[in-house]
Amino acid sequence: MKWYDIFSNFYDSSLEKLYAESRKRAVELLALEDGQTVLDVACGTGANFKHIQALNLDIHIYGTDFSEGMLRRGKDMIEKNNWKNITLFQADARELTPDFVSQKIKSEPCFDRIICVLGLSVIPDWEVVLDRMFDLLKDDGKIVIVDVFAEKRDFNTWLVEKIAKADLNREIWQTFEKRTTNFHHEYLPVKESKVGGKLFVASGMKK
Ligand SMILES: C[S@@+](CC[C@H](N)C(=O)[O-])C[C@H]1O[C@@H](n2cnc3c(N)ncnc32)[C@H](O)[C@@H]1O
Repeated sequence: MKWYDIFSNFYDSSLEKLYAESRKRAVELLALEDGQTVLDVACGTGANFKHIQALNLDIHIYGTDFSEGMLRRGKDMIEKNNWKNITLFQADARELTPDFVSQKIKSEPCFDRIICVLGLSVIPDWEVVLDRMFDLLKDDGKIVIVDVFAEKRDFNTWLVEKIAKADLNREIWQTFEKRTTNFHHEYLPVKESKVGGKLFVASGMKK
């Protein structure tokens, strides 16, 4: 994922303002409680972490991404803030089987919460990744997904897809809905022209 190694140099400075409120909403929907674990799939530079840390709960965060460059940014932020409750590991999200994750984190590969922000529109074989997420989720666990779906394609869709190496035609929340109970979906107040389609957050529990 060489592009994201390069993108990591200006990812936060160019996008953080645009997505900050959506990240807050996603973290709110995680409904985290003391003592829980959360896995951030395709965590990138760790832009969700500060919103989870702001809850001031006793939470352990695991972040995983394929790009070393993105993870390096995350590591720098963790060190700068002296956060001791965050573990990062590099992985192709398609390979996140319980055995693989257990070897990486040296702990039970079973999470209370899983979050994936702007990952499933980028990662190839995203449906496999969704399966992996369900396999790593506790029975009463919850998944929260933020992503973009372009109902109508236009120039901005094409541009965002080029820049983010994304496919904004993937029916992510629609597929997720079929696999969950307590499904919730809402569109987030970000202009379609800025993100190439409709930004949504969806959450649900294992069926
Ligand atoms: C648009 S960024 C989103 C990053 C972060 N979740 C955020 O909200 O800012 C997409 C991320 O997907 C990661 N990615 C792409 N392909 C991947 C794969 N096969 N496995 C894991 N991560 C991957 C990229 O490295 C990048 O960090």
